Amino acid sequence: MTTLLEAKGVFLNYGAIPVLKNIDLELIQGERLVIIGPNGAGKTTLFKVLSGELPPTKGAVRMGDDDVSRHTGFRRVRRGVGRSFQVARVFLEMTVLDNVAVSVEARHGHEGRGAGFFRISTSPEVMDEAVGLLAHLGLSAQQNTLASELSHGDRKRLELAMILALRPRILMLDEPTAGMSPTDRAAAVDLIDRIVTENNITLILTEHDMGVVFQLGTRLSVLHYGELVVSGAPEEVRKNLLVREIYLGRNSRHD
Ligand SMILES: Nc1ncnc2c1ncn2[C@@H]1O[C@H](COP(=O)(O)OP(=O)(O)OP(=O)(O)O)[C@@H](O)[C@H]1O
Ligand SMILES: [Mg+2]
Repeated sequence: MTTLLEAKGVFLNYGAIPVLKNIDLELIQGERLVIIGPNGAGKTTLFKVLSGELPPTKGAVRMGDDDVSRHTGFRRVRRGVGRSFQVARVFLEMTVLDNVAVSVEARHGHEGRGAGFFRISTSPEVMDEAVGLLAHLGLSAQQNTLASELSHGDRKRLELAMILALRPRILMLDEPTAGMSPTDRAAAVDLIDRIVTENNITLILTEHDMGVVFQLGTRLSVLHYGELVVSGAPEEVRKNLLVREIYLGRNSRHD
């Protein structure tokens, strides 16, 4: 079992307020780890620390033998971490195709062919790859649509295409189906399942919808007031009385 990403004794304070408390977490190659927990438990904050957007107040984040706690998000992308956001981040004024092309170009850039990060490409090679990714995600018909005109579900799919263009080994999804209709949600889950399997990606996600949690997760960890209180196979966690009490029985605004 190879550990791809590890948090060891991680604390994160916002000012004087402790949000993450002594988090130990290991992400094993090939697994699909779901972090669940009530609103405000610290799930997004944990993602920020794992993806390099925030340095921990104390403790370490490791990839392989390296302490990456102080590496920027950009450096972590280079090491294979791709992350989506609770509210999808895309370039609204650009077409769907150009959004993906920018990501493909960015990857080429940090593979050593130029230094630009956000650059619109005209290279046929880049455009072909972007077109292929859009087909992979079922967005071909929207190729020339402005991102600002996409539906909520399609915007999330576009964001996923942009992340996949970076060829991540680890995919971090923060509430990938939040705000979706049941139909869009089912389609999104099938898509994530397929993409992760086909591209051999290790997945870590947060999600409020319990159907999605149990469909996608191979391991669950419960975050409660900034502490990881329970971790295990989905069925074990479902049976855990503490989990029922703090989370499953008392659902949040998302349900
Ligand atoms: N930038 C910030 N500055 C100060 N406090 C913050 C900041 N971001 C989040 N918090 C607080 O930290 C706590 C954890 O927030 P976080 O967004 O990580 O929770 P979450 O588990 O992702 O919640 P949700 O399920 O609603 O997405 C909350 O009390 C929140 O108000
Ligand atoms: Mg959140």
